[in-house]
Amino acid sequence: MTDVEARTEGAAGPVFAYAPAPESRDIVHLDAEYGLFIGGEFRPAATGRTFTTVDPATEEPLASVAEAGGGDVDRAVAAARAAYEGGWGKMRGRERAKYLFRIARIIQERARELAVLESLDNGKPIRESRDVDVPLAAAHFFYYAGWADKLEYAGFGPSPRPLGVAGQVIPWNFPLLMAAWKLAPALAAGNTCVLKPAETTPLSALFLAQICQEADLPPGAVNVVTGAGATGAAVVAHPGVDKVAFTGSTEVGKEIRRTVAGSRKRLTLELGGKAANVVFEDAPIDQAIEGIVNGIFFNQGHVCCAGSRLLVHEPVAELVVDRLRQRLATLRLGDPLDKNTDIGAVNSAEQLAKIRRLADAGSEEGAERWSPRCTLPERGFWFPPTVFTGVSQSHRIAREEIFGPVLSVLTFRTPAEAVAKANNTPYGLSAGVWTEKGSLILWMAQHLEAGVVWANTYNRFDPASPFGGYQESGFGREGGRHGLEAYLDV
Ligand code: NAI
Ligand code: MG
Repeated sequence: MTDVEARTEGAAGPVFAYAPAPESRDIVHLDAEYGLFIGGEFRPAATGRTFTTVDPATEEPLASVAEAGGGDVDRAVAAARAAYEGGWGKMRGRERAKYLFRIARIIQERARELAVLESLDNGKPIRESRDVDVPLAAAHFFYYAGWADKLEYAGFGPSPRPLGVAGQVIPWNFPLLMAAWKLAPALAAGNTCVLKPAETTPLSALFLAQICQEADLPPGAVNVVTGAGATGAAVVAHPGVDKVAFTGSTEVGKEIRRTVAGSRKRLTLELGGKAANVVFEDAPIDQAIEGIVNGIFFNQGHVCCAGSRLLVHEPVAELVVDRLRQRLATLRLGDPLDKNTDIGAVNSAEQLAKIRRLADAGSEEGAERWSPRCTLPERGFWFPPTVFTGVSQSHRIAREEIFGPVLSVLTFRTPAEAVAKANNTPYGLSAGVWTEKGSLILWMAQHLEAGVVWANTYNRFDPASPFGGYQESGFGREGGRHGLEAYLDV
């Protein structure tokens, strides 16, 4: 390869070739088999059943993982109950805090290993697992460790009490981070947990279980039961669970809500989204382009709050789309472990099939499809960054969550039209606004029906900032003081 590659079609200038910069895989030691983490110990599932988790970038098997059945879930809930009654629920907050601080520090110490592990099991670029997933996971434990001895100052009364045993079901898009979002506030508030990671990405939750052991967390305070939907359903339906927290698809969220209806169980749901990223004509265009790219191509678009609908002001629509195409032509797709990779692998064959199906629907319904020229690896699950223009609000690609690197571009003329179009969705998780005018930002934030509104930025997260949705995006908040409410009897 020469040091200046042939100009990619649509690129603004010469694109410099990058030498491969792979992160070493050797830092992660994988066992051939992983058991369930119950009562502080790893053990095989009583069912004897296992499933295989693969590297989506190569389709190579990574490890065989225990599949928990009803009996295993029973044992995990019993272990969590015993730990709750036996001390965790009564322990002074400042003692609980010490464990959480310890977990946070071990995550930091093992950061490189966890980042490689996450990229192997999920397919996300190492740049993201290293700079976002793992540091934010540690930050969540640090943040909630700080709350553990200050719960009476959180605004929920003088002596807020924990709920008991929390059953927590999480998805595959941010496996370690979602585990941290669920476990850290629950433990800080004095609850014990039964966590069910997603079937395509169980490994980082199991490494986190090892970290709990290393931190001497009392046995049973955290239990991890691996398996697919049936295992998750068993956790949700278990009569010994006091609180259910779920992140995943709206469809499963609705099913869970039906399951817990009429019971005493508390419920929080973080579901899908179809966020609008709104760019006004006075926006700083270069920053907006970066925000659009980050909004929809971060983590291959497997993001519930992804800015999957770009609403662009008509006077700058052509300019924005043009610049966006130039920028996309410079993105690097490929080996998730390469530090220069921008776009990694799609997490599973099923998700790839869903993205293809919806993108094809976009073409069939008459929108114009564009992708930069890019070579997809032969093995593994891959989808190129894709932009649809000429999209109307009735198109499926403007209504349904694709959960992939696919952007639908619509235009508007006035702020009122932007708001009407942005809110024309059954979801309501997030939105982005790009303009120089502070007054317009505030007006938009008041009128957008979304749990999070980013202004002149996108996909920004901080453990101190609450996150959650409206309507079919779910209810309840994670992060911040608000995130404690889900785990306290208030
Ligand atoms: P999913 O909702 O089926 O899976 C999420 C988690 O729920 C996994 O741990 C899964 O094992 C578990 N689960 C599945 N069925 C369950 C049930 N009946 N009871 C309890 N737990 C259950 O999501 P899936 O099938 O992986 O993805 C489908 C679509 O959902 C995606 O294409 C995307 O549009 C959306 N999704 C949204 C996410 C978000 O963060 N908002 C995360 C994952 C998926
Ligand atoms: Mg599913």
